[in-house]
Amino acid sequence: MKLVLNNIEDIYESENLVRLFFPGVNFKEDDGDYAVFSKSGNEVLAKVCYKGKVAEIKRNASDFWETFAVLFSALSDVTGRDIPWGMLTGVRPIKLVLDLINKGFSKKEVLKTLETKYKLSPQKARLSYLTALSEKKILSETDEKSISIYAGIPFCPTRCNYCSFVCEGVEKHRDLVPKYVSLLSEEIKLSAEIARNLGYKVETIYVGGGTPTVLSEDELYMLLSSINSAFDKSCLKEFTVEAGRPDTITEGKLSVLKDMGVGRISINPQTLNDDILKDIGRHHTVKQFYDSFLLADKMKFFDINIDLIAGLPKESDASFENTINETVKLSPANITLHTLTLKRSADMYLEKDLYETYQKVSARVLWADEYIMGNGYSPYYLYRQKNTIGGLENTGFSLPNKEGLYNVFIMDESQSILACGAGASSKAVGKGGKIVRSFNYKYPLEYIRGFSDIIERKKKFQKELNLSLQTE
Ligand SMILES: C[S@@+](CC[C@H](N)C(=O)[O-])C[C@H]1O[C@@H](n2cnc3c(N)ncnc32)[C@H](O)[C@@H]1O
Ligand code: SF4
Repeated sequence: MKLVLNNIEDIYESENLVRLFFPGVNFKEDDGDYAVFSKSGNEVLAKVCYKGKVAEIKRNASDFWETFAVLFSALSDVTGRDIPWGMLTGVRPIKLVLDLINKGFSKKEVLKTLETKYKLSPQKARLSYLTALSEKKILSETDEKSISIYAGIPFCPTRCNYCSFVCEGVEKHRDLVPKYVSLLSEEIKLSAEIARNLGYKVETIYVGGGTPTVLSEDELYMLLSSINSAFDKSCLKEFTVEAGRPDTITEGKLSVLKDMGVGRISINPQTLNDDILKDIGRHHTVKQFYDSFLLADKMKFFDINIDLIAGLPKESDASFENTINETVKLSPANITLHTLTLKRSADMYLEKDLYETYQKVSARVLWADEYIMGNGYSPYYLYRQKNTIGGLENTGFSLPNKEGLYNVFIMDESQSILACGAGASSKAVGKGGKIVRSFNYKYPLEYIRGFSDIIERKKKFQKELNLSLQTE
């Protein structure tokens, strides 16, 4: 398809808008299809030709959204395609919805704005609104003196072949783990000192990954006791460990988590279909998921989150519905429904025209949202990632009062975070919303080798945090 822009400065945005309708499109290929997008003064013209059919729209526009709505409408007319998130391409759509609510927009006005100005489907507008309401309540119960703590374990039993996170298979890198855990404990100690020096209240602690339960019982004990002895937990509302892979969970490790005061864990099958689990390289079975879930559930100590992914290759409607049905039957505190993100290294779909696949996945996600909500769950956080099938979202659903607070804080970006470990990024959020970030090295070996730099960066970051408490 040829894309011709006249007097339009936003090349990247224009290309992305066309890609929403034609996923995987090659702008260098001359196959007869074209889109012309031009502006003269306030007058905007979009003319799109697709398979010989032409749509042409000309109208006045006074801002970015009105201008792009002209191209969006022409693309929509000529293809007849539905784009669930409309023109919104950002990864945090709920921030925009919260902004409208905070400006005093009524529910009706919010939905209308989302559907007409940003072109969201009515279902995504409703999902966003419900999520924003839940976030608003959680955010109203925190303040600028609260902080969250993150500790990352970038190791996994093996690497799943769809994964878009930084982690190392422990088979090859087992020798790094003891040193890593001991340095991580040092960084945690320094972070606790910083939090104390600045008078922060620690509100949530999140140990994520990777797969923290890939650690041995002793290593887990060491890590969690270093967290417990470093931080003042008197204001702590939530302590999460992302157990994740069912093949790493044992009764002994769960007892360590319980004894250390962890109240929230994730146990993730991604799908309840053994053939697909094999295909995506998860190296565990559906039975192992049930066994570990029931083991943890029996202890009656944990709120359990279950991560699922929609859009895995070879998933049929029936197999996806079975996964959702069976997950809901377990009544976990949270269900997080992701949509498959296709990074270059993990391009599992090779079709040229991806739109048909996207439509199927989109319909499944819509069905799942309704089914999960119809069974007593509400959406409480939502985000999007680049390169996700159909531009779809990841949504966290929760039973009443079981929301994972850390997930909301990280998505809303309104709370400072002290993050430790390889790949971790700390965030100082000023009163006016200005954010300063500090990044650690990405991979465990770099982290170990460059640990003195990590400590220096953290000390500098204390100054940023201090400033953020004072500046508007
Ligand atoms: C940081 S991972 C850690 C979880 C844990 N290691 C596990 O695999 O069970 C958190 C979640 O992100 C999701 N995820 C990872 N890669 C993804 C991808 N390419 N597309 C969609 N979701 C993905 C999975 O649902 C996963 O459980
Ligand atoms: S276990 Fe989790 S973090 Fe590790 S590779 Fe698989 S999806 Fe990624």
